[in-house]
Amino acid sequence: MRVLLLGHGSREHCMAEALKRNPETWLYSVMAHLNPGIKKLSEEFRLMKLSNFDELHLFAEQVKPDFAVIGPEAPLADGVVDYFGPMGIPSFGPTQELAKLETSKAFSRLLMKKYGIPGLPEFKVFTSLEGVQEYLEALGDFVIKPDGLTGGKGVKVFGEHLKDASDGLNYCREVLKTHPTVIVEEKLEGEEFSLQSIADGKTVLDTPPAQDHKRAFENDSGANTGGMGSYSCENHLLPFVTEEDVKQAHGITEKVMHALSRECGKPFVGVMYGGFMVTAKGLRLLEYNARFGDPETMNVLPIMENDFTEVVQAAIEQRLDEINLRFLEKATVCKYVVPAGYPNNPSVGERIEVDERGLARSGAHVYFGSVNEKDGGVYTTSSRAIAVLGIGEDLSDAERRAQAGVERISGKVFYRKDIGTSALVQKRIDHINSLKK
Ligand code: AMP
Ligand code: GLY
Repeated sequence: MRVLLLGHGSREHCMAEALKRNPETWLYSVMAHLNPGIKKLSEEFRLMKLSNFDELHLFAEQVKPDFAVIGPEAPLADGVVDYFGPMGIPSFGPTQELAKLETSKAFSRLLMKKYGIPGLPEFKVFTSLEGVQEYLEALGDFVIKPDGLTGGKGVKVFGEHLKDASDGLNYCREVLKTHPTVIVEEKLEGEEFSLQSIADGKTVLDTPPAQDHKRAFENDSGANTGGMGSYSCENHLLPFVTEEDVKQAHGITEKVMHALSRECGKPFVGVMYGGFMVTAKGLRLLEYNARFGDPETMNVLPIMENDFTEVVQAAIEQRLDEINLRFLEKATVCKYVVPAGYPNNPSVGERIEVDERGLARSGAHVYFGSVNEKDGGVYTTSSRAIAVLGIGEDLSDAERRAQAGVERISGKVFYRKDIGTSALVQKRIDHINSLKK
């Protein structure tokens, strides 16, 4: 099986490892930075911008892959799946139109509304400032979202980034200068979790829920990031997420998948990653992504018992109904090592020391992220550098392993020590309990 993989982050390193567990998978990779982990697993690789379809075309013609696996959202948004289709290369990943699930929050919100799918907050979509002030005042607590890919950084929340309706109005004005649409919605309070589901237009198969940590610093302080780390539990729930919550989240994703097929006339093949929130009023959907999460991929693929290449192939052939997706009953904790100054002023081009032998002894797994391999060393870029994963019998066992691993990495970098610790998890539980009172 010849597989073309797009992307160069820890998510893609982890996907590459999962694909390569099948001894018959031959991996061909395309990345913008030289990720040493992906390089090692690949028969061949090319360094190029993923948006350079001409170069991509040449490599794909040479490789003649059986299928392509698209890691990040940008190439999906650019329509790489539509591009590969006529070349006879099917993809694990949605077409540009279906990727609107992620690239347009207005599209997804309106789709759910049109099909009567539960889980929506109060919301309105605006293309001009008319009526915005009134709606902000009526909501009281609000959230403002530009309609487009913003790398998780465009969403502004009342009480955190915006102090009153007039601030909100100004932000909407600013957004409308660069985006055709802005979404204003009710501010929800609760605990977030990610449910990454593999879909083929007919069947939705869930991976275990995970929780990401957006804030740069310990105790959930500092700027929002792409995600500083995440965890999942051995019972495939989370301490604040019940079986019923997961069932409901699954039901929402399944309905959205069918609505997408009706709306776009084509099946969604790939990952539907729902960002859900458990609130006192019930389960709500914050957003969908049309790809695996980063870091949440590390919480699910390394413990998948199925052959991932076969799962991907089954999704492409719309045979997911034949797959019984199984995961080890293990907990996972992932801690991301990021450049000093990340996310606002990351120190780029700094050498990172990775004590490979110490890491091997720690039992932790390492997934290289946005780094560059040069002259036998690993150097930072402006984004998250190395994900370290602990897999254990329970959360504290997994956390201990991740921590032992992350301590073997040094340089002008930092990480959040508190991810997966019982103190932080207890804070989440206390938060939900205080809301449910
Ligand atoms: P999104 O890109 O829509 O997931 O939003 C980014 C982050 O903003 C989420 O992870 C939440 O922390 C926060 N957020 C988004 N929507 C809401 C909402 N309706 N209420 C409260 N927080 C939200
Ligand atoms: N963990 C956040 C994301 O993948 O978008």
